[in-house]
Amino acid sequence: MTRVTVGLGDRSYPILIEAGLLDRAHGHLASFARNGRLIVVADEQVAACQMARLAVGLGDVAVEPILLPPGESTKSWAMLEQLTDRLLALGVERKDRIVALGGGVIGDLVGFAASILKRGCGFVQVPTSLLAQVDSSVGGKTAINSRAGKNLVGAFHQPDLVLIDPTTLDTLPVRQVRAGYAEVVKYGLIDDPDFFDWCEAHGSTLLAGDAGARTHAIVHSVAAKARVVAADERETSGTRALLNLGHTFGHALEAETGFSDTLLHGEGVACGMTLAFRFSAHIGLCPIADAERVGRHLAAAGLPTTLAAAQVDASGATLVDHMMHDKKMDSGRLPFLLARGIGKTFLAKDVDLVEVERFLDAERQRMDALAS
Ligand code: GLY
Repeated sequence: MTRVTVGLGDRSYPILIEAGLLDRAHGHLASFARNGRLIVVADEQVAACQMARLAVGLGDVAVEPILLPPGESTKSWAMLEQLTDRLLALGVERKDRIVALGGGVIGDLVGFAASILKRGCGFVQVPTSLLAQVDSSVGGKTAINSRAGKNLVGAFHQPDLVLIDPTTLDTLPVRQVRAGYAEVVKYGLIDDPDFFDWCEAHGSTLLAGDAGARTHAIVHSVAAKARVVAADERETSGTRALLNLGHTFGHALEAETGFSDTLLHGEGVACGMTLAFRFSAHIGLCPIADAERVGRHLAAAGLPTTLAAAQVDASGATLVDHMMHDKKMDSGRLPFLLARGIGKTFLAKDVDLVEVERFLDAERQRMDALAS
């Protein structure tokens, strides 16, 4: 078993990674049970695949399940109210640990509920999607969506433990695995060119289901994320902001497609990272060969790397307008993650939005390198 620590002083917590951890959950979660019982929140789809397995793994600890509908719409005020009412009815106390079993939606919702329940109780992340395993379960960003946009109401609230069992990916639709893989590649593109080389060499094996490749990618990714979170928990110094590579362009694409299944978050990030590299090349910051390499790898992984592949047919002006509503806006300016090359991402605060608009208008005609 691999153990990675998120070092945050007396709020430090371990991330445990091993195939089959769910089947041995008793050893890791039994101490969090109260009166022999543990509350586990999951969506109905994940529960159908993993809840019985977790219950067996918990042995003599009984599961008190709370099931919610699957999908992004569960990150809502209505579901937060439903969940907190249910948790209060179950008599949750501050020292309790609520288990979030699922992908980013359940992790974000349960984490936020835990942050406000009785002014803050504990929670454990048991992420079951690749995206949640390599990114959202670690670092304590929790939120729901509001009418004004995604993730606009939330809190930083760190979990007490993250338990990652890569075998949960075996029942995940391949499209979801690909979308999560974009966040794996992201760590290479930010500051780790050797890891990007590894992705190029092993990405297809990982996507084909190879257990060793999956575990390696997860361990490497959470170790990178743990370092960043320990250095800049609340995204104040700019270090954690690097994790938003591709998210500003991606946010515009997701907004244009209505934050729907047309474009999953990881797919928006894949296309957004390619656009960030291509834009960096366009303004002379980054060799075009690096931008092409990024696009080639993500397209080979079955991810969209052009506006056409992301099913976005909008003007540059429309997309820039979506960006202006991004929560990353800072005093009326929009910080962009740009790159000087693979593994050389940096935060640029003075990007000319007219240039971004022109670039996106030109990008509208491009087709995926592999499709053309
Ligand atoms: N997913 C970006 C972050 O946790 O900061």
